[in-house]
Amino acid sequence: MAEPLVDLRGRSCLVTGAASGIGRATAELLVRLGAQVVAADVDADGLARLTARTAMREDAPGDAGGEVVTLVCDVTVPEDVRRMVDQAVTRFGRLDVAVANAGILPLSDLAETSPEDWDKVMAVDGKGMFLTCKYAIEAMAGQPRGGAVVCVSSISGLAGQARQAAYGPAKFVASGLTMHLAVEWADRGIRVNAVAPGTITTERVQALQDEPGGPEYLDVMARSHPLGRLGEPEEVARAIAFLASDAASFITGVVLPVDGGYLAR
Ligand SMILES: NC(=O)c1ccc[n+]([C@@H]2O[C@H](COP(=O)([O-])OP(=O)(O)OC[C@H]3O[C@@H](n4cnc5c(N)ncnc54)[C@H](O)[C@@H]3O)[C@@H](O)[C@H]2O)c1
Repeated sequence: MAEPLVDLRGRSCLVTGAASGIGRATAELLVRLGAQVVAADVDADGLARLTARTAMREDAPGDAGGEVVTLVCDVTVPEDVRRMVDQAVTRFGRLDVAVANAGILPLSDLAETSPEDWDKVMAVDGKGMFLTCKYAIEAMAGQPRGGAVVCVSSISGLAGQARQAAYGPAKFVASGLTMHLAVEWADRGIRVNAVAPGTITTERVQALQDEPGGPEYLDVMARSHPLGRLGEPEEVARAIAFLASDAASFITGVVLPVDGGYLAR
């Protein structure tokens, strides 16, 4: 039988924001692809649900039998992020892949956004992404095989949108880190890429239905994706797994839209 194109058997991976949405779909897919995954989040209950779901998965054809360990970790706290990286290295011997996914997604225009709101989103989506890249790459730098980082940016990290006055600029941090770190670390065998999802039906996006202006926003977004629908977390997870794998061995510095054609309009 031919080798699978995306093969992560035995790879040591970490995923931040793994208790929900895109992060959970990614952690679950990496496990099915054979990876050993440290799944980190601030949400301990959500992590417990991830562990239970992973343990109960059926032996589907193509399941390469990876494993997951969970860790409560706040990506805004440097000691937490260091501990997360140490966990992967201690437990699995090295760190091959880091998926910097944790984020908060406020929907507000400039007038509605307070200086405190700005600090809050920049702490998680900005500094948290920086810290994850920093400590993951420092661990990968000493390894013969280097490593791969995948940041989760957004269509809002590549183009302007209304009502994303703090969130949008924070996602530009993910896109910017990706390009700058890709160039800085390429000679040490570390690839840094990102995905830029369109609107994806995660728990967070579903909750927008109950927020002021949320239903109107979702209605516009559904019509703005040329494929005619919102995306699924698993569809983003597949792009992340590809970029993390050796199938993407000559790809670095890319911010890959996973957006049903949104940015192509
Ligand atoms: N859903 C979308 O439409 C969409 C689109 C583009 C980009 N994104 C990006 O995808 C990523 C995941 O979003 P999602 O929609 O899956 O959201 P989500 O709310 O479903 O999941 C985010 C996870 O991050 C965790 N988290 C929040 N703050 C944290 C912290 N300080 N430390 C550790 N974990 C933390 C949450 O507990 C949650 O489990 C985010 O970076 C977001 O910006 C989402």
